Amino acid sequence: MSILIKNGHIVTASEDFIADIYIEGEKIKAIGKNLSYDVATTIDATDKLIFPGGIDPHVHLDMPFMGTYSSDNYETGTLAALFGGTTTVIDFILQTQGDTLHNALKTWKKKAKGNAIGDYSYHMAVTDFNNDVAKEVVQFIEEEGITSFKTFMAYKGALMIDDGQMVQLMKVVKKHGGIVTVHATNGDMIDSLVSKNREAGNLSPLYHYLSQPEVTEAEASARFLDMLHYTGCRGYIVHMTCEGALNAVRKATLRNQKAYVETCTQYLVLDASLYEKGFEAAKWVMSPPLREKKDQNALWSGINQGLIQTVGTDHCPFLWEQKEMGKDDFSKIPNGHPAIEHRMELLYSEGVRTGKISLSKFVEVSATNAAKIFGMYPQKGTLAIGSDADIIIFDPNKQHTISATTHHMNCDYSGYEGKEIIGKTETVLLRGKIAIADDSCLLTSGDGKFVKRKAVTENI
Ligand code: URP
Ligand code: ZN
Ligand code: ZN
Repeated sequence: MSILIKNGHIVTASEDFIADIYIEGEKIKAIGKNLSYDVATTIDATDKLIFPGGIDPHVHLDMPFMGTYSSDNYETGTLAALFGGTTTVIDFILQTQGDTLHNALKTWKKKAKGNAIGDYSYHMAVTDFNNDVAKEVVQFIEEEGITSFKTFMAYKGALMIDDGQMVQLMKVVKKHGGIVTVHATNGDMIDSLVSKNREAGNLSPLYHYLSQPEVTEAEASARFLDMLHYTGCRGYIVHMTCEGALNAVRKATLRNQKAYVETCTQYLVLDASLYEKGFEAAKWVMSPPLREKKDQNALWSGINQGLIQTVGTDHCPFLWEQKEMGKDDFSKIPNGHPAIEHRMELLYSEGVRTGKISLSKFVEVSATNAAKIFGMYPQKGTLAIGSDADIIIFDPNKQHTISATTHHMNCDYSGYEGKEIIGKTETVLLRGKIAIADDSCLLTSGDGKFVKRKAVTENI
């Protein structure tokens, strides 16, 4: 299988230029002007942008959560990701408290095997740390190629670990070249605000938002950064939403500390005014919640200032009937929303087209930095000789409208229904195979492969 992409506007995290790309088998073999090879397929990319396949570092597929399961599985989730130009996703394995990491890994391997259409890897969520789990952490890094360990500072009783466990985990992970990632919100504060609101009869989705004020995220982010500083471990804060939390990161840089930060498309594009829509607001019940316009401004600036390295989705969709589990009590609405499909297009339309970020910054935060931080670079996340031929051919001028009637996610609503955007993923290659063309998927279940990741010790 060989493909020649002609005359595209190639964009990487450091350069952009017009050239051709020659692909043989799964890899990029040559990049240059006027390439001439005898190939099976030639694609004319004149006037199109060529990006490395996107990497979404934060998705939840087929995940048991709040008494139900997220509604996209490995098949539908990676399919929708491919349609939007995301060729690799990193999902979360959840340890059941009292059980081993390896048992959880077995369960997640079954979910993915024969089903994934796009490539995937796993973060391992440690929800119960002890000496036996410490040994498993080392085995995950050295044998399984799973080098990132997710922690929760909230969701007490199901997922949360305490600060003592956090510090012990960081010490083991640091020693073996992994990274600790965190859902950084103060679980105890949130739980008490949720209880107060329920007791007062404040039961609509608006109170989900009001039970997680900015301080709950700012405090936990600062505490996590302090623990990272104390242990010297590499760390990454997921789904950051607000100015207060970002200021904690800014403060950490004053002591020359490097920590990585992810935000998500919804926090850049949507805001908390949506919580005034009665029960419809359940569509945006996620944790942390949407914030204010001033937070959106802070996040865009944080991307440009290099304080935020990645933009993920925290894709965790639930059907409307699942959201209705909380119609009389916001605390029973499963947290999460559908997002995996439109991450790149929204970021391009709202970020690049409006001049908020450059083309190279777009590539950095949508692909390259995640590959570097999580040990997949340069196999993934860039366009270079020897890299996997995960490639997007993107029409920068195509206008389209987001709708649940046309999206590919297994969700019967969209948080962006009717939103008009400019820029569309046109053709997608996954490891040298055409995955998406002419609005159709040409790959099938099982074509997606697990990406074994390396331990990383250097900062990006
Ligand atoms: O609301 C969310 N974010 N649901 C998924 C679980 C998590 O906290 O990331
Ligand atoms: Zn979270
Ligand atoms: Zn999440």
